[in-house]
Amino acid sequence: MLKIENLVKKYGDFTAINGINLELSDGITGLIGANGAGKSTLLNLITDNIKRTSGKILYNDADILSLGAGYRKKIGYTPQLQGMYEDFTAGQFMRYIGALKGMKHSVCKSETCELLEVVGLKNHASKKLGSFSGGMRQRVLLAAAMLDDPEILILDEPTAGLDPEERIRLRNHIAQIAKNRIVLLATHIVSDIESVAGKVIFLKKGEIIRYASPRELIAEIEGKVDKEHITLEDVYLYYSVNQRDGSAVDGEGNI
Ligand SMILES: Nc1ncnc2c1ncn2[C@@H]1O[C@H](COP(=O)(O)OP(=O)(O)OP(=O)(O)O)[C@@H](O)[C@H]1O
Ligand SMILES: [Mg+2]
Repeated sequence: MLKIENLVKKYGDFTAINGINLELSDGITGLIGANGAGKSTLLNLITDNIKRTSGKILYNDADILSLGAGYRKKIGYTPQLQGMYEDFTAGQFMRYIGALKGMKHSVCKSETCELLEVVGLKNHASKKLGSFSGGMRQRVLLAAAMLDDPEILILDEPTAGLDPEERIRLRNHIAQIAKNRIVLLATHIVSDIESVAGKVIFLKKGEIIRYASPRELIAEIEGKVDKEHITLEDVYLYYSVNQRDGSAVDGEGNI
């Protein structure tokens, strides 16, 4: 269980994360919000890549700062901006990440085979990343993040820039490996999480304005939008375009 209490992150005078409280348990949690809402910042705080300004992040009741390297070993992470190693083969890249995670070479080698097979790249292990499509790269990143069987998997925009077929494929892989671990998935493609996320965090200007299951979120706006089949994307638009967090909205829902 990952518990976040009164988390604040400031960049100079700018508050990117403004007092977040959150409890995450096993399964996929979607993280949505506009550009600049603070999604990557929140993920970077959870992965202990950046320093928080104040507040607590507890993993199984211990602050992650006191767990240090032991905590980071439990995390698999695919960052939003990927520095891919074009000249590495997929297999070399996996072994490199495994080495960074401190894995034994033999264990890493066998996990690399298994994981590349899971993401459908078994026959591409000795091909260079530079020759891979966007979807193949994301699948390698996902496989690399899964090395050493992380308890927490943090995915920042894994489906960005992928065609629909690749997006669905990646989403299915993520759903498949999400069991028995905490998966936090930031995305702009709201439909990618609608069917797989147990819960969705809606972040706006560094604050959580909604945290509920897709079904609950959809039920919340039923009857409030002029549409029969409401999707999570409609929920997103309802709260973002209409500023439904309490600011400047009249009774008709106009800004
Ligand atoms: N290193 C930094 N220094 C100063 N400001 C930053 C820094 N990193 C992020 N910010 C600011 O914090 C806010 C949140 O950024 P963040 O990258 O977390 O948003 P995001 O929700 O991930 O956006 P996107 O959807 O574009 O990925 C933005 O206004 C951004 O400009
Ligand atoms: Mg981001």
